[in-house]
Amino acid sequence: MSKNFYVTTPIYYVNDKPHIGHAYTSLAADILARFKRLDNFNVFFLTGTDEHGQKVEKSAINQNKSPQEFCDEISVKFKNLANFMGYSHDHFIRTTDKNHKKTAQKFWQILEEKGYIYKDIYEGWYAIRDEAFYNEDEIIDGKAPTGAEVVWEKQESYFFKLSEFEKPLLDYIAKNPDFIAPQSKKNEVISFLKSGLKDLSISRTSFNWGVKVPNNENHVIYVWLDALTNYLSALNFCDNDQKYQDFWQKTSQNSPIHIVGKDILRFHAIYWPAFLMAAEIPLPKKIYAHGWWTNEGQKISKSIGNIIDPFEEVEWLKSKEIKEKTAIDYLRYFLIKEIPFGSDGNYAKEQFINRINSELANNIGNLTQRCLTMIHKNCDSKIKKEPNCNENIQILENIREKIGKLEFDKALDEIINFANQINKEFNDYAPWNLKKDGKIDKMEQVLSNTAENIRKIAILLLPFIENSSRMILGFLNINKEQQNFNNFGKKLEKGVEINEIEVAFPRIK
Ligand code: MSP
Repeated sequence: MSKNFYVTTPIYYVNDKPHIGHAYTSLAADILARFKRLDNFNVFFLTGTDEHGQKVEKSAINQNKSPQEFCDEISVKFKNLANFMGYSHDHFIRTTDKNHKKTAQKFWQILEEKGYIYKDIYEGWYAIRDEAFYNEDEIIDGKAPTGAEVVWEKQESYFFKLSEFEKPLLDYIAKNPDFIAPQSKKNEVISFLKSGLKDLSISRTSFNWGVKVPNNENHVIYVWLDALTNYLSALNFCDNDQKYQDFWQKTSQNSPIHIVGKDILRFHAIYWPAFLMAAEIPLPKKIYAHGWWTNEGQKISKSIGNIIDPFEEVEWLKSKEIKEKTAIDYLRYFLIKEIPFGSDGNYAKEQFINRINSELANNIGNLTQRCLTMIHKNCDSKIKKEPNCNENIQILENIREKIGKLEFDKALDEIINFANQINKEFNDYAPWNLKKDGKIDKMEQVLSNTAENIRKIAILLLPFIENSSRMILGFLNINKEQQNFNNFGKKLEKGVEINEIEVAFPRIK
């Protein structure tokens, strides 16, 4: 198996500014990408913006802007958010990129050549907000099942022979039990498939803002078909580039993986695999659907006006004298730890404060502070003894297993439990008493061992909260080349002088 790992986020609609939901999907992908890199994989992490379609066109018109000008403005906000949150994406794709448009058209042509596209009349319900077609039996009180407004549309349209893929998809899912996760979401996909697939309308004539259908300028490609091909265009699929070979053709466990929200699973777990089967292109290895956040118990929506803006959350923390880089780590930590990936969860400020204070400030932060202060005061700022604590290699193995299942919260539990245990040992050994009793050798050994375990904790936290991890590793005078999993098993060296320290995880007041 190759050591190449391809992870993607959905590409975000540019009809509005980014919020916590967008930050969340990308955060999970970022942690996965970072973990894999530290684990010696060759990673390609993709994110970007989805810029075509009626929804975006409408938003541009509402603001008296040309669609392109409007997209440029909003796309940059998503890019800024990604950089601000410290995402380690290797590429930021825009569906208005020339190369992407070329790929979408090329993909269309492949489907056409293989005989899966025909022209007919589309008549049915369409929800602009979801950019999705709905069957009559899905409409509830005149609305889409998602609550979106629907309009009745009748227009000439090209169709994709989706109905031919009902059985192949069911067979594929049966043969590849890990293809769709988590299980509850997989079951939804299976029952949707079993209820029958109709051919899919894949072009529109009622507006212009999209990629033109090859050889028919009157039609634009359905925005979801356009958008899904981004996963290939970013790898220069058209040129059969090495990147495409490495990251799409050569797979490793779970790669390629698409991380998506539960609302867009149908597009990724049914349409996309069907398109790929039709085009005779290998399918991704995994589609993982995560849950949705509510805000203090309420559905997050623009109309309610309760959207959580990640930039504002960091400002809020800064107003409590938390430095920006630490504040970003706090937000990352809370988002990924608060809810099991795949479940829905609630964003509540009080819970945010409690979690950070108890798990980071009082636990890891406090331990670091107490141990390193004692080393400064009692050991000439040096690691006086060669650490002889347990190797604790198993913990990395446990975390690897959890990350492999995208159980980010459980992976963090491993680290927090380990820190609790080290804290307890530290209190039990009570090096301050050893000092009082004149047992200096023993005190030095306890402090050296504890510092070594702090090093391990900081390395394990790297994929989640890099700023803080590197800060702590810096206290321990560990150079950047050694801040990785390869050095996890090597212990702190006797004689190393530690650096000045500061509070790594200040309490949120
Ligand atoms: N453009 C499409 C995706 C195309 S991928 C080929 C799209 N964009 S989106 O901007 O509407 O949503 C992107 C992601 O944000 C989705 O995964 C969605 O689930 C996620 N979230 C939006 N609101 C959310 C919450 N309140 N909570 C968690 N995630 C949410 O769909």
